[in-house]
Amino acid sequence: MKTLKVALVGARGYSGLELSRLLLGHPNAQLIDVYSSNTQWQLAQDIIVPSAKNVNTRQLDQLEANAKNYDVIFFATSAGQSAEWIPKLLEHTQIIDLSGAFRLNWQQTQKFYKLELDEKYLSPANYGLSPWNKCASRFISNPGCYVTATLMALIPLLKENLITTDVVIDAKSGTTGAGRSPKDSTNFSEISQEIHPYKITNHQHEPEIIRYLSHFASTDIDPIFTTTLLPIPRGILSSIYTRLQDGVGVKQIHEAYEYYYREYPLLQNYWLQGDDLGFSWKTSLKRVVNTPFTQLAYTAKDNKLYLFSMIDNLLKGAASQAVENFNAMFELPVTTGLIKETL
Ligand SMILES: NC(=O)c1ccc[n+]([C@@H]2O[C@H](COP(=O)([O-])OP(=O)(O)OC[C@H]3O[C@@H](n4cnc5c(N)ncnc54)[C@H](OP(=O)(O)O)[C@@H]3O)[C@@H](O)[C@H]2O)c1
Repeated sequence: MKTLKVALVGARGYSGLELSRLLLGHPNAQLIDVYSSNTQWQLAQDIIVPSAKNVNTRQLDQLEANAKNYDVIFFATSAGQSAEWIPKLLEHTQIIDLSGAFRLNWQQTQKFYKLELDEKYLSPANYGLSPWNKCASRFISNPGCYVTATLMALIPLLKENLITTDVVIDAKSGTTGAGRSPKDSTNFSEISQEIHPYKITNHQHEPEIIRYLSHFASTDIDPIFTTTLLPIPRGILSSIYTRLQDGVGVKQIHEAYEYYYREYPLLQNYWLQGDDLGFSWKTSLKRVVNTPFTQLAYTAKDNKLYLFSMIDNLLKGAASQAVENFNAMFELPVTTGLIKETL
């Protein structure tokens, strides 16, 4: 296969830097240009990989004129920037967007992102939850980080009607989830020694979880969803509590994951038993940080299910999932450019 020419808008941010590292090591991609409002910034300032020196930093006002030179443009920008640029560029090239701008329906996009976008861009068919959506489209909207961890765990169980729809999702993230731009809530003095629930009842990932459980599992749920900021840089733990349907045991939960992820190499499936219930690496966030893997670990007591889904917010929650979507777009194996570079 020919080498695909790639540009990245938002390379200076946390997800953009991770994506740059992955693209520089991808055997079928050539990262040619990055776009930044800070044109003095060079990728080689932040990334040691020697080929980073060959990547040009370009001004955003050149983006539209240059778009046809790329096979794909990635956006790792704010939702507002993605919404401004992507509709103008889609006739010239293919696009993968990491922001939340195109994940929700019209009303929700207006409410949570303050954006009014043409409905034609907001179709669930563009939503790139890998491996659930094969995404042959020219435009892929990459899922949210909390949403990814949660949907990977819940879709198989709801599809098979193994659990009730009464679900509690207690999701926690490291501070890189809030981006690289300095903020009061994530500065060291505020978050060190702290643990902090935030956006209570009002997080934009709640409607995203509901929309895509309906889309992928054909199940409508109205979960209790909470988000908490942890005093660590990266990683997401989504702890999910629900009840098994009558007659269902944890063995069937294990089998559902085995079945649905049988051709997906980027998932670890752990049924917690015996000593695992005390203190185990199978429930360790450190194991997945800096990897593109999703780790699912679970157990049940009577009809109560305790389920823990862990990802790296900047990789499976953002950059490595964007590469999975790039691979799907160009019919490459799902792990291309992912396993060697990130382990
Ligand atoms: N962080 C995550 O875990 C995560 C996960 C999933 C999805 N996302 C989504 O992905 C998009 C990008 O997120 P992000 O967390 O990577 O954002 P970020 O770190 O805040 O970076 C976004 C952009 O902000 C600008 N910026 C402003 N001040 C900066 C500074 N001091 N240092 C570096 N860049 C600065 C840069 O653009 P210029 O170079 O043009 O100034 C940069 O590309 C967002 O839409 C976010 O919602 C993030």
